[in-house]
Amino acid sequence: MIELSTGTAIVTGGAGGIGAATALKLAEAGAHVVIADRANVGGETLAESLRKDGWAASYHLLDVTQESSWDELIEGIKALPPLRVLVNNAGIATWGNDVETETISGWDKMIAINQTGVWLGMRAVAAPMRAAGGGSIINLASVLATVGGYGEEIAYHASKGAVRSMTKSAAIHWATEGIRVNSVHPGYIATPMSLEGLDDWHESRILGNTPMGRMGTPEEVASVIAFLASAGSAYMTGSEIYVDGGYTAV
Ligand code: NAI
Repeated sequence: MIELSTGTAIVTGGAGGIGAATALKLAEAGAHVVIADRANVGGETLAESLRKDGWAASYHLLDVTQESSWDELIEGIKALPPLRVLVNNAGIATWGNDVETETISGWDKMIAINQTGVWLGMRAVAAPMRAAGGGSIINLASVLATVGGYGEEIAYHASKGAVRSMTKSAAIHWATEGIRVNSVHPGYIATPMSLEGLDDWHESRILGNTPMGRMGTPEEVASVIAFLASAGSAYMTGSEIYVDGGYTAV
């Protein structure tokens, strides 16, 4: 059983968007939240404002693509309560770049952050979570892990499909050790990632293809992540949960 109130939760990419909403939800559940993000994206400011509101929070610099950065993070949080939760949320996206127009450099960058970063994160927390007697890892995939969307973003699809299947492999690996691994698949959520560069063509199709007829909010994804982090989901591992306003139901 995971007692959030006596543990630490890492949220990668926790400075903004879905990550920031998740940091608040996990802090409200009693965890010491570690906002792990790149430099100069507001992680320290967010941690400070959470602390001012009475929650336990800190910021740590992390580049999810670098093994040494993960090692420094795990070393740096040793004095905190036992590590019980990792939310592998950091990610990037682009509009466009289809199967013909993607470049090697664009592909490599996307795979490094969205895919390799998730694997490195799961590997880095294995020892501290085992020592804590178990934990919950939540990997942010996407509806685009399983459907073709608009025939674009080939590298994004590749990376999120990999997150979906890596989640299941890791879940089976740790199934008897109390470390649970699940993936969350948001549809289109109103964050900097999806709003920057959103043109009328995409917006009208996205809203038209979403039965609820609107984008989701970061909080609507964060509450599902918080459920997967909690003891309420104790019998769930290797599962994929869609938070998409019905996008994949059509
Ligand atoms: P966002 O762009 O608002 O936030 C992403 C965060 O990741 C930022 O704080 C950024 O600094 C951090 N980040 C990027 N590269 C990093 C690196 N190398 N190391 C550490 N941190 C890094 O994005 P949003 O929308 O909050 O997305 C969060 C997750 O949800 C992503 O994995 C994304 O792919 C996924 N998602 C988002 C959807 C959406 O519509 N917004 C839809 C489906 C999935």
